[in-house]
Amino acid sequence: MVMTGEVVQVEMTADSLGGMGESRAPRSVSRTVLVERLVAQLTQWQRDTGRTEPPRVIDLGGGTGGLAVALAEHGYSVTVVAPSPNALAALQRRAAEYGWADRIDGVQGDAADLVALFGAGSVDVIACHQVLELLDNPAVALSAIAETLTPGGAFSLAVGQRYSAMMVRALAGDLTEALEIWRDDSRFDPERLRKLVTGAGLTIEAVHSIGVVSAAVSEENLAPSSIAALRDLEWAVGDDPSLVAAAPAVHLFGTRPD
Ligand SMILES: C[S@@+](CC[C@H](N)C(=O)[O-])C[C@H]1O[C@@H](n2cnc3c(N)ncnc32)[C@H](O)[C@@H]1O
Repeated sequence: MVMTGEVVQVEMTADSLGGMGESRAPRSVSRTVLVERLVAQLTQWQRDTGRTEPPRVIDLGGGTGGLAVALAEHGYSVTVVAPSPNALAALQRRAAEYGWADRIDGVQGDAADLVALFGAGSVDVIACHQVLELLDNPAVALSAIAETLTPGGAFSLAVGQRYSAMMVRALAGDLTEALEIWRDDSRFDPERLRKLVTGAGLTIEAVHSIGVVSAAVSEENLAPSSIAALRDLEWAVGDDPSLVAAAPAVHLFGTRPD
């Protein structure tokens, strides 16, 4: 985190987006809005597809279950796929601590295992948040997501972006690293993500920015009314397509064509 006077600029990390850790600390505004966006999109998708029950969500790279707990609170069952047995053990503890052990489970594996774990064309909803940017070959993971989804099934991607990561380093005074980040073609921006997602045969239905405002504001000492105002502002700004590339992260929701 980089402090510049009153302004705080953070690069989106699991902590800033998912970051409840093992405690019951309040969710960040970025996380709250991301979950709200996903739930709103899923609710619309359920209506469009005539489903009466919330679908099970596969959370690929779901770590210790920050998203899983939030979705369980909204009535979803979630299966977290995580490469690390330690993360799965922490997931189990967190699910029990929050009272959602009946809605949350975990399975060891990674993106390459998706089809083997669940079967081709078998999963209604896959979330993959803050994972693609860590992979050597995100196209392979996106193909696995596309192959595992049912026709008409939905996906949710949240991906950290290049511009904001560069600014974080620049504001910290590390200008050489900032330039390296900027020139790093493996970093994501909305256009690169769009090409990869459509290249995997998936259809993008909604694009929103995450954290344009809230990542620049220190939430620690804000009154609840200010947190609520920040949430409203974050939600409103997140709808503006011209700001997406400048956001710390981007959220994409879409479907596998029928
Ligand atoms: C930054 S954390 C994000 C955790 C969670 N999705 C969230 O949004 O809070 C990245 C996660 O990706 C997982 N991961 C790394 N490589 C992976 C792979 N090849 N397949 C699936 N998950 C992977 C890590 O274990 C870690 O839990």
